Amino acid sequence: MLTDVTAYAPATVANVAIGFDILGHTVEAIGDRVRVRRTGERGVRIVAIDGIAGALPVEPERNTAGRAVQALHEDLGLDGGFELEIDKGIPLASGLGGSAASAVAAVVAANALLAEPLPPLRLLLYAMQGEIVASGSAHLDNIAPCLFGGLVLTVGIDHPRVKQIPVPPSLRCVIVHPHMHLGTREARAILKADVSRSDFVWQTANLAGFISGCYSNDLEMIRDSFNDVIIEPQRASLIPGFADVKRGAMSAGALGCSISGAGPTVFAWSEIQNAEAVRGAMVAAFGRHGLSADDWISTIENYGARVVRA
Ligand code: HSE
Repeated sequence: MLTDVTAYAPATVANVAIGFDILGHTVEAIGDRVRVRRTGERGVRIVAIDGIAGALPVEPERNTAGRAVQALHEDLGLDGGFELEIDKGIPLASGLGGSAASAVAAVVAANALLAEPLPPLRLLLYAMQGEIVASGSAHLDNIAPCLFGGLVLTVGIDHPRVKQIPVPPSLRCVIVHPHMHLGTREARAILKADVSRSDFVWQTANLAGFISGCYSNDLEMIRDSFNDVIIEPQRASLIPGFADVKRGAMSAGALGCSISGAGPTVFAWSEIQNAEAVRGAMVAAFGRHGLSADDWISTIENYGARVVRA
């Protein structure tokens, strides 16, 4: 049986504009790594947090990776314990699913140490316990794509159904992370509880159009549906220059542009030949608003979390 495993989990773009809390996709360029060792001492301990970590809690019950592995450990009633080393590659409070990635990498590594590894749907629920620590709410739109890979729709919370949706291969995702922090709790707290009937109809049509466009390789349908009429208008003012960044992306040929998860990262989908121009326009627009940024161009392929060293 293995005693020491490291897993990698990619960053994710949650919501993908029109699928608030139910849709997300992976970003191959960046991710978190978690090394898990089996120990004789009962329970879960975090022994190191490295990388671009900032001040993350080392108490397992307050740490997304620690809490996720605790949930697995408690549920299985395991003897012995796990020691975790977390290596953060995803900036904190960036809207790129960093808390989900740490939780997912941790449970994927811990799972590889079990005598009888569990199926991914079980791991999803443990990782969700970690996500609750970070964001205060149960949502799977970062965790499910992070674990399964690609563009992923999740239906349900307690007994989730997970569907990997094909993405036209000519598309790329441009991701621009302005150097500022925006907490998920804060970005959720400002959202109105109610939705008008008209917005409900538009959002439903857009989600259906977007997904059918993905299945049928219909880029015009994706472009016309790529419009969040409910969440983005409420959050836009939290990100300086968002309207200019979006305008820049669309003028440079993007199919759509919106807030990645709870922000402040902004993402755009574009055909491969326009991706560089879209990236340049978005970075320049943030610059005009006094924000420097990191940027990536990523495929949206089905590579989820995986063991990288055992
Ligand atoms: N769907 C969530 C939100 C993602 O937008 O609040 C946050 O990680």
